[in-house]
Amino acid sequence: MKKIIAVDGPAGAGKSTVSKIVAARLGYTYIDTGAMYRAVALKVLQSGEPLSESLVGNVDISLDEAARVFLDGREVTKEIRTPEIGLGASDVAKVAYVRKKLTQLQRDMAAHGKVIMDGRDIGTQVLPNADLKIFLTASVEERARRRLDELTAKGLQADFANVVKEISLRDKQDTEREIAPLAQADDAVLLDSTSLTIEQVVAEILRLAKD
Ligand code: CDP
Repeated sequence: MKKIIAVDGPAGAGKSTVSKIVAARLGYTYIDTGAMYRAVALKVLQSGEPLSESLVGNVDISLDEAARVFLDGREVTKEIRTPEIGLGASDVAKVAYVRKKLTQLQRDMAAHGKVIMDGRDIGTQVLPNADLKIFLTASVEERARRRLDELTAKGLQADFANVVKEISLRDKQDTEREIAPLAQADDAVLLDSTSLTIEQVVAEILRLAKD
C-alpha cells in the first residue's frame, strides 16, 4: 500500500472531498494544505495590517483528525471557506516566505507516512517523493457548479457567473505564479473528474494506492 499520497489540481476539482474519503477508507490522515493558506489569508484580513514576514513568522496553524482548522488556537474551519478568503489565499500563496513556512509545516505533518495531502504543489514541491501522485482536474464549468452547490448548501450567497470568475482568476494566479505554481508532476496520474462520480474517483485512487 502506498504510504504517502499527493493530490494536486485546480479549485473545485474535488480534491478535498475524495481525499477525505480515501483517508477514511485507508485509515490515513488527511491534510488539507489549502486550508493552511486560507488560514494565513484570514490572519492577514483580521490583523488589518499588510502581509509581513513577522505576521507569518509566529502564526500557529493546526489541523486535527476531523480536518478542523485552528488559527492561533481558535477554530476557523467554517470562516475560511468563503470565495474572498479563497482569493486571499491565492494572493498570500505567491509570497516566498509564506510558502517556505507552510511547506515546512506540511512536510513535518507527513513525516510519519499514512497521509493523503492535497493542494497545488504537493507532488512537485512539498512531497516530491510521494508514493502516489494524482493530478485531479475537471472542466471549469463543472468545478464552478460543484463550488456553487457547496456554497449554497452552507447558506452562502453566490451566483454561477461570479463563481466561474473567481475560480478562473484563482486558476490563472495559481498556474502563472513564479514560485511553486500549480502543475502536474511528471510522475503524477491525471484524473479528469468532469463526468465521474465521487465514488468513481475514490475507487480509482484506491486501486492506484493498492500496490
Ligand atoms: O478548495 P479550493 O480548491 O478552492 O482551494 P484550496 O485548496 O483551499 O486553496 C486555496 C488557495 O491556496 C489556492 O487557490 C492556492 O492559491 C493556494 N494553495 C497553494 O498555493 N498551495 C497549496 N499547496 C494549497 C493551496
